[in-house]
Amino acid sequence: MTIAPAPHTDIDLFSDTVLTDPYPAYAALRASGAAVYLDKTDAWALPRYEHIRAALHDWETFSSDAGVGLNDVVNGFLVGTVLGTDPPQHDTLRSVLSEQLAPRALRKVKDDIEASADKLVDALVTRGEFDAVTDLAAALPLSVVFDLIGLPEHAREDMLRWADGTFTVFGPMNERTEKGLGVIQEMFAWLGTLRAEDLKPGSMGRAIFDAAAAGKIGQDSCVPLLAAYTTAGMDTTINAIANSIQLFATHPDQWDALRANPDFIPSAFNEVLRYDAPVQAFARKLTRDVTIDDTHIPSGAQVVLLYGSGNRDERQYPDPDSFDIQRNPVDHLTFGYGTHTCAGQALAKIEAHAILRALIARVRRIHVGEPARHLNNVIRGLESLPVVHLDIDG
Ligand code: HEM
Repeated sequence: MTIAPAPHTDIDLFSDTVLTDPYPAYAALRASGAAVYLDKTDAWALPRYEHIRAALHDWETFSSDAGVGLNDVVNGFLVGTVLGTDPPQHDTLRSVLSEQLAPRALRKVKDDIEASADKLVDALVTRGEFDAVTDLAAALPLSVVFDLIGLPEHAREDMLRWADGTFTVFGPMNERTEKGLGVIQEMFAWLGTLRAEDLKPGSMGRAIFDAAAAGKIGQDSCVPLLAAYTTAGMDTTINAIANSIQLFATHPDQWDALRANPDFIPSAFNEVLRYDAPVQAFARKLTRDVTIDDTHIPSGAQVVLLYGSGNRDERQYPDPDSFDIQRNPVDHLTFGYGTHTCAGQALAKIEAHAILRALIARVRRIHVGEPARHLNNVIRGLESLPVVHLDIDG
């Protein structure tokens, strides 16, 4: 029997060209195999839906413990974080805030978030011209997460820069990662100065310090947990909202369908998340040899789980490159799956649904200019999206 050589590619998934539009590269990877060795990154990519989901389910083989980033420096930062641990340590860390972020607990803040979304959209509709990223998409998650975590006011202006740096460092050691490392060192240094009394009483940030005081987690877990919850809820949700605006502006038939039936909002937002995942990839490290289809991957190898590619896998979603709000892809990979599935997804949905609900009630058509893409090693998002005109009702 002859053994076929493992598929490999010299595509650099973290180059400017691919980050600007990764979908042709993903299609090429999916066509070449279930597991493809990335020559430029010295890691394996899983580009197909079925195998990404199976890997996320099997945390014992596809471990987060050695880090979910593609360079040793960030993996050093991730030691002992909720993202960078396996059970049982992971489950203890995750339990600290999981109750506060469960849909039932969030009912308390839902009305406030909806009122803020209404107010924001009202003001922007009056203006008529604005930037959908900085003026609309960034405004709500920044204030919501900041208030929930209860951080001191003066850090607000640094938070978006810190969040951007936190995500880009998950890539291989390229120029973006090097710059990002400087940014996150600054963020960790600042977070390290915080004491329990610096965080608002009753806030999630305070709950982290309370858990440490009660001996539930180590004192040294406070800063990593604060960092995870603060930054994870920013760029992710911001780009999900910005992507929604861009997709609905460029697919007016889908906007009309949504306006005709507001009950489609959850389904429509699932389709936005499937179509353009704000987090395109995280890595895992193999704890044993595996064979995926016919491809052997050795223990210790790094494996990149390409959520953004799995979401466009034709084996899972018919006509995957079309944006169709009636598809309701509840099984998309954008929030991950399994042990590390996004802890804040209920909050992200409340925010995005609130913005969409406020917009469909007022805006008949969104006209946008040329978007500018922001390149980050793992986040897919926009720097700016000028809204040049809104057709409004009445
Ligand atoms: C549309 C918005 C969001 C997207 C696309 C997103 C995406 C993700 C993904 C893909 C993961 C899985 C990481 C892995 O597989 O290793 C994750 C985990 C996580 N997310 Fe989100 N996220 C979003 C919003 C939020 C929000 C609003 C928060 C909190 C305020 C949050 C907090 C977290 C935390 C703490 C984890 C780590 C969970 C764990 O390791 O057990 N996320 N997110």
